[in-house]
Amino acid sequence: MASNAIETRELSKNYKELKAVDKVSLVVEKGTIFGLLGPNGAGKTTLISMLVTMRKPSGGSAKVNGFDIEREAGKVRESIGIVFQDQSLDDELTAKENLEMHAAMYNVPKGERRKRIEGMVKLVGLEEQLNKEVKTFSGGMKRRLEIARGLVHHPKILFLDEPTIGLDPQTRTSIWDYIKKLNREKGITIILTTHYMDEADSVCGKVAIIDHGKIIAEGGPKQMKNELGGDVVSIECANSEKCRKQLEGFAWVKNAVKHGGTVDARVEKGEEKIPKILAFAAKKGIMVKSVSLRKPSLDDVFIHYTGRTIREQEASPGAAMRLRRKAWGQKR
Ligand SMILES: Nc1ncnc2c1ncn2[C@@H]1O[C@H](COP(=O)(O)OP(=O)(O)OP(=O)(O)O)[C@@H](O)[C@H]1O
Ligand SMILES: [Mg+2]
Repeated sequence: MASNAIETRELSKNYKELKAVDKVSLVVEKGTIFGLLGPNGAGKTTLISMLVTMRKPSGGSAKVNGFDIEREAGKVRESIGIVFQDQSLDDELTAKENLEMHAAMYNVPKGERRKRIEGMVKLVGLEEQLNKEVKTFSGGMKRRLEIARGLVHHPKILFLDEPTIGLDPQTRTSIWDYIKKLNREKGITIILTTHYMDEADSVCGKVAIIDHGKIIAEGGPKQMKNELGGDVVSIECANSEKCRKQLEGFAWVKNAVKHGGTVDARVEKGEEKIPKILAFAAKKGIMVKSVSLRKPSLDDVFIHYTGRTIREQEASPGAAMRLRRKAWGQKR
């Protein structure tokens, strides 16, 4: 048996000139919840699509559950579950019918189907909705059903591409709870992508940050934050760009990034720097509305490696359109 769930070696995907995935070498141990984090267009979906054998690599190789994604694509497919970015349930069918169709497609023995379906539906808390048509479901219920469906054939790895995008914060929390439970109770390895850094932080045992097709950092979220060290001082002010530029000029400021009307400055011993910051702001005529101090988050780790915040990317047309599509429950 393979000891790792995923192993990739210089896995690449080019679209003409564009290196969507650029020589990614990655190991994911069995039983991990692994998060691929990155802004829109970073290459997350492309990378996962190759691992689930939906797209062919341009170069490199990968093994999933010990099977080669090109030479043993069928075996890879049998051993994994997929929940992708765009919804793919049949709205006209009931939850049960959707699950039955999937079980049949994956050759789950007839005698076992009912038991498996009931088990999975219970896991995601949809027992009451089993015989209702999917078109009557909320976005969160659909997502949970998709997760149940991805599990009916008992895969060893579940791939989730943006499992919580377009959902409200409360529903997002419940989806993450189900994902954690799945991993804990069934020992399933989970590979997921997400924009929500704070959520990845609380859910994932390991994360990799991907930007422009390359993995630029990886490790445990806690370890990555600790390695960054120091504090983050957030300054909310009227002329934030001026404030950011000024702060960047100080040797004791490791980096300063602006998002909206707030500037985040990463410094050592933040409590000692706050008075300095307030003094310079007063001198330069920068109107400070509030100042706060915190330990680095995964967002700050992202900023450290890429020089920008992941939030800057969120409003891109692609993401916005997907969000709208989800909100309307529209199909591809
Ligand atoms: N079929 C395709 N043909 C050409 N370019 C593509 C294709 N699919 C993706 N790309 C490009 O490859 C890059 C990576 O896209 P990908 O969908 O993997 O990003 P992502 O990290 O999943 O982004 P998002 O967060 O928006 O889902 C992007 O620049 C995208 O425009
Ligand atoms: Mg994507």
